[in-house]
Amino acid sequence: MSEKITALRGATTIEENTREEIVSKTVELVKTLKDDNNIGSGVRAVSCLISTTVDITAFYPARAVRESGLLDCPLMSCLEPNIENSLPLCIRVMIELASDEKTDFVPRHAYLHKAAELRPDLAKISKTMREREKACSPEISGKDRGKVLNVAIDGPSGAGKSTVAKLLSRRLSMTYLDTGAMYRAIGLKMHRKGIGLGDVEGIKRTLDDTVIEVDTIDGVQHVRLDGKDVSGEIRRHYVSKLASDFSAVKEVRLKLVEMQRKIASEKDCILDGRDIGTFVLPDAVAKFYLTASVKVRAKRRFDELTAKGEACELDAIERDIETRDYNDMHRDFAPLKKADDAIEVVTDDMTVEQVVAYMSEIINSKR
Ligand code: DC
Repeated sequence: MSEKITALRGATTIEENTREEIVSKTVELVKTLKDDNNIGSGVRAVSCLISTTVDITAFYPARAVRESGLLDCPLMSCLEPNIENSLPLCIRVMIELASDEKTDFVPRHAYLHKAAELRPDLAKISKTMREREKACSPEISGKDRGKVLNVAIDGPSGAGKSTVAKLLSRRLSMTYLDTGAMYRAIGLKMHRKGIGLGDVEGIKRTLDDTVIEVDTIDGVQHVRLDGKDVSGEIRRHYVSKLASDFSAVKEVRLKLVEMQRKIASEKDCILDGRDIGTFVLPDAVAKFYLTASVKVRAKRRFDELTAKGEACELDAIERDIETRDYNDMHRDFAPLKKADDAIEVVTDDMTVEQVVAYMSEIINSKR
């Protein structure tokens, strides 16, 4: 039988430089790689090289693998170059695999814990990780996000979520992430490329080829689509409908939710949207559901658009809002609904200042 050699890669981080941490995380990584690639049945490990960053000194990871009995090939631990600003406390693995040339073996690489940020594209390939995430999503994500404070604000269009979230983020020194802006950018991109709602393959291809960045500079939010600033364009009325339509596509949601979770895992964030408390961040420390009557919301949107010089009619906006509410609340995947543990805030008769004061008091009580 002639064999083909494939390099399988993986990485993990550890919490602290102790023998226990090195052993448990190295074994977890190698076990994930072994299980995901059926090493030992059909695929053979030829050798395994394990490298560590300089801050790992308490134990040899190769010895951890040897003693675990997971691999019976030659093993070696070595030191990585000490590059400034690289991920600390990181263990990387490369396993040389031999498989039958006739079988179509494709390696499943695994990136665990903070190392997942190094290769989000490969991290998500791991079957084990996917199953684990499915089984206990709140626990895993909660642990990874344990050190940060996340606030979820959901509710229908025009309830005042973004105005309130912006003010709260400034008052509480947290990052504001406008997830609606991300859906708007995707809607705009699909429109520009002429991709229709039914063209799932086209949507997937476009998603793989799209970069969205949202950040706030001097209190002003900037949204970039593939490097170009689209902050103004995505607020145009025609984009609202596109955003609502494409936000119902599961592939679109999964891609954006992944980005949102990653951002929220890195810093204290306030996220506003439709599914933040129910799906994106089920373990957010505080959850709010902001709402107001259709009439009040339509009037607010009308004032906003006319202030920008965009021609519009109040009746038409009211009908649009009703349609978008219906779409957002009735889509199959992650629809808009109040999380059981969210606090409902009806803003019809409240000023922005009153809403912000009320919410910041609640958030502060959880800090
Ligand atoms: O909040 P907004 O109007 O900018 O949102 C635009 C659209 O995106 C809206 O129709 C609902 C959708 N959306 C979503 O489905 N999930 C989110 N987390 C945010 C927005």
